[in-house]
Amino acid sequence: MKFRTKAIHIGNQRCRLTGAVVPPIHLASTYVQESPGVWGDYDYSRSGNPTRDNMETTLAALENGVDALAFSSGMAATHCVTMMLNAGDHIVAGTDIYGGTYRLLHKISNRAGITVTLADAGNPENLQAAIQPNTKLIWIESPGNPLLSITDISLCAEIAADAGILIGIDNTFATPVLTRPLDLGIDIVMHSATKYLGGHSDALGGALVVKDTELREQLYFIQNATGNCMSPLDSFLISRGMKTLDLRVKAQSESALAIAEFLEADPRVSRVLYPGLPSFEGHQLAKQQMHGGFGAMLSFELAGDFEKANRVTASTKLFQLAVSLGAVESLIEQPASMSHASYDRDDRLAHGIKDELIRLSVGLEDPTDLIADLDQALNG
Ligand SMILES: Cc1ncc(COP(=O)(O)O)c(C=O)c1O
Repeated sequence: MKFRTKAIHIGNQRCRLTGAVVPPIHLASTYVQESPGVWGDYDYSRSGNPTRDNMETTLAALENGVDALAFSSGMAATHCVTMMLNAGDHIVAGTDIYGGTYRLLHKISNRAGITVTLADAGNPENLQAAIQPNTKLIWIESPGNPLLSITDISLCAEIAADAGILIGIDNTFATPVLTRPLDLGIDIVMHSATKYLGGHSDALGGALVVKDTELREQLYFIQNATGNCMSPLDSFLISRGMKTLDLRVKAQSESALAIAEFLEADPRVSRVLYPGLPSFEGHQLAKQQMHGGFGAMLSFELAGDFEKANRVTASTKLFQLAVSLGAVESLIEQPASMSHASYDRDDRLAHGIKDELIRLSVGLEDPTDLIADLDQALNG
């Protein structure tokens, strides 16, 4: 089956009881057993739930994995991976990562005696150099957040495999529509399902997808033991969202390219970061690694003018000032004070995330309206 067919037919079997073409939402928290010690397919919803199973089955098929595990949020999914490590272990992560991941690694994992080194994954040699004898996990994002940097996923996977280190990737920005990291040698794909998978700003969730059943068992053990799972209602909404994922991501990517070209040609804008622009550092790699578009996230700067950047983010009318991304509504934000506020300022500036950087999540509105909105806001 092709991607769009899988999104609609895998994990979305009709209800056997009623024939309903959309599976029902199973809200029950517990399930009747035949007798003590005899377990059916389900016993308790923390351990397994049919609606969550459906969502996991669809996502695993879209990422070419053997299984997926659905969590209450993207951070919960990433946290589950870090819980595989022990005190004394070390993590190497990219510098261009979501602010919440930075916070998890530096302010939660460190409490468990795990150390972290950030390395610019845009050049995988940096990752290699950061590996220590106790490194147990490499964590990357491509395109990165918020600088859209492109990481050579296959090369990083090779480095990790040679060193016998587990490697995970946050695939939230690219989605399986544009990049399927398990096919490129990655062990664990993570999603904030809150974003493109759901796609409508009305559900919160996260997911891990793997291609190895033993790894799946290890992660599932932690998930069940710590009780971190996606609710049935969120599972249902994210399943519904995934049916249109391919169409949305491709259309939103096309609009993002048009907007990036508009901004790049505009003298009021000093720098545009978008993997689809030939001027962008990672463009050639993005062309090889991403299929069907370059994503719908982009960032830009206004000639080092912080006040002006604030005026722009306050004066768009269609782009709404809000964190999050990946939905049908376009959003605008300022990473320094919003999505990446949990970064230590010095670290953030050292990694090139300036105060005046503006990030856009391009939605599904008509791109000409979005360009007109930015045009008027840039005058603000
Ligand atoms: C790239 C990326 N990864 C992970 C997360 C965390 O996901 P969640 O908010 O669902 O916990 C976010 C949230 O903004 C994100 O943008």
